[in-house]
Amino acid sequence: MTSADAKKRIDKLRDQIEDLRYRYHVLNDPKVTDDVKDSLEKELKALEQDFPEFADPNSPTNRVAGKALAKFVKVKHEHRMLSLNDVFNVEELRSWETRIKKLLPTNTKISYFAELKLDGLAVSLIYKDGVFIRGATRGDGFIGEDITQNLRTISAIPLVLREKIPGLVEVRGEALMSKKVWHALNKKQEAEGKQLFANTRNAAAGSLRQLDSKLTAERKLDFLAWNIILPKDFELPTHAGEHAFLAKLGFKVPKEQCESKTLGEIEAFIKEVEKIREKYPFGTDGVVVSVNENELHQRLGVIGKAPRYMVAFKYPAEKATTTVRNIIVNVGRTGVLTPVALFEPTLVAGSTVSKATLHNMDQIERLGLKIGDTVIIQKAGDVIPEVVEVLEKMRTGKEKHFKMPSKCPVCEGSVERRTIGSGNTSSAAYYCTNPNCLAKNQRGMEHFVNAFEIYTVGPKIITRFKDEGLISDAADLFTLEKGDIEGLERFGEKSAENIIQSIADHREISLAKFLYALGIMNVGEQTSEDLAEHFGTLDKIMKASVDEINAIENIGPIVSQSVFDYFRYKENVHYIEKLLANGVEIKKQAKKVAGKLTGKTFVVTGTLESMSRDEAKAKIKALGGHAAESVSKNTSYVVVGENPGSKAIKAEKLGVTILNEKEFLDLIK
Ligand code: IVH
Repeated sequence: MTSADAKKRIDKLRDQIEDLRYRYHVLNDPKVTDDVKDSLEKELKALEQDFPEFADPNSPTNRVAGKALAKFVKVKHEHRMLSLNDVFNVEELRSWETRIKKLLPTNTKISYFAELKLDGLAVSLIYKDGVFIRGATRGDGFIGEDITQNLRTISAIPLVLREKIPGLVEVRGEALMSKKVWHALNKKQEAEGKQLFANTRNAAAGSLRQLDSKLTAERKLDFLAWNIILPKDFELPTHAGEHAFLAKLGFKVPKEQCESKTLGEIEAFIKEVEKIREKYPFGTDGVVVSVNENELHQRLGVIGKAPRYMVAFKYPAEKATTTVRNIIVNVGRTGVLTPVALFEPTLVAGSTVSKATLHNMDQIERLGLKIGDTVIIQKAGDVIPEVVEVLEKMRTGKEKHFKMPSKCPVCEGSVERRTIGSGNTSSAAYYCTNPNCLAKNQRGMEHFVNAFEIYTVGPKIITRFKDEGLISDAADLFTLEKGDIEGLERFGEKSAENIIQSIADHREISLAKFLYALGIMNVGEQTSEDLAEHFGTLDKIMKASVDEINAIENIGPIVSQSVFDYFRYKENVHYIEKLLANGVEIKKQAKKVAGKLTGKTFVVTGTLESMSRDEAKAKIKALGGHAAESVSKNTSYVVVGENPGSKAIKAEKLGVTILNEKEFLDLIK
């Protein structure tokens, strides 16, 4: 074959394959089979090998390109990628309309456009002079990651637009995995003993974030376009027009869409979509409704991260079934007892759920719920998981009735039933009557999370968790799952994840910090360290007598008594057992080193030049010495830096040896 003939054949093959790809992947034309395309591609590949001078990065043979990446490169979006505000019912949708109409001059002609809200990953595709040059994830909206290679493997993405547009065009849409492909993938994962993907979105995300585009190619992702940003001269007046144009350019666009002058028709469309949603080949979680006229977009503008001219109508809760393993009782800040159902961990709306509050006894009676029951649970857009129904037909006869305990599960104090309100709105709740009940101790919990350095859990979150009945005490924090908290108001998936992660990251703790976290009266950080250092294990501290504790240097009789007393209370011991049972791990205490400062007690005061006070204390400890906070007659040395306070004066009074920085440095040399 001559070079000229080869070129002609190559061009024809490329056109033909491109056309088949378009018909198969974009138009969904069943007449085309992959075999035909494969066969043509085989011929094209062979020709391209024989005639490398005709290589073209946009040849259909180049859909898997290049080597695996070391990492994704960050890219700045030319136009910010926004997100959407959600509405959950027709009323909210209508008040959105009222709000925007208020912002526009009366008599402004307005129409609406509604389309599917696809449950995948937003991506941006840049075309230069009609050729695909870069694709990126949304990232934080300003900066995303370059995933061009991976996107090139998606057959529904045209490498060349079907109409030439000079300059830059940005197409945005959803990278998705169809339900069919997801099922097949999970089957394969299962057979290979690999982790399953919870939903199509996770599967799509996992597949797109592969550094090796060959892996992405295997996952058979899809792409549906929902937005286009055109050069000035090509701009279109409506969103509906843009959708039609996207289809013309060779993109897949869902045919389910609705353009209307009234919101009423849009509402009907939303109802229609809800009916077909389950059978739709891709995951959809709602309908995106926008003001159709692009000119009005400018006027309505953006508020925060979301445009005013667009909202996402979200369909209600996903449901799942599970069994109730147990019903436990949590005690709130006010002492109220809240029954909580513990489930077999179950996936609902994409995350694992292990518990749900039952609110009160009335709710349990309304549901007719027994321990061991099979139940339907649901997790709506921003509602925490809840039990909605008991499947009574699933009963085996082994289910058990639940009764409110007569003693507080935290402190064993007596429980009382109180009625709040009157008439129809009255409700009865059970309360722990012990004013000193640990569960009422909000400050104690705040202290605990600080000591454990779980900084993602602040006072407000503690209150929230308690009010929802998710926790009684700090030990319960260690039983939370992401799905248990992610539905809480103002709680995104990300913050839920951060909280769960930081709790998990701080399960392991030193003995001193653990003691400190317990909040024993008169036991601060220093005493905790002294106790840990002296006794070495929690067990020994718990068993120590007042005298044994009192014998420790720097610990006086009041502190000794308070430590001793703490461990005599049964509920405190239960609490410690619960912490350990829930996964808190106390690190082995490092053996106290014997060194040249063994037996010597130091107090460091003022500002040192060569190191911080904490560094100085660490040095003292490393050499076997003891670093104390306050000066007493037992102090061996007071190290004095710049601007010392009362400690230096006290040392002088007591006749304790004072060291300046240089003398201290000489000593520890
Ligand atoms: S338009 C101004 N249209 O939903 C934001 N988004 O909650 C532009 N999504 O990040 C979004 N289907 O990943 C739009 N038909 C659709 C969509 C859609 C799914 C996703 C998209 C976006 C998120 C916003």
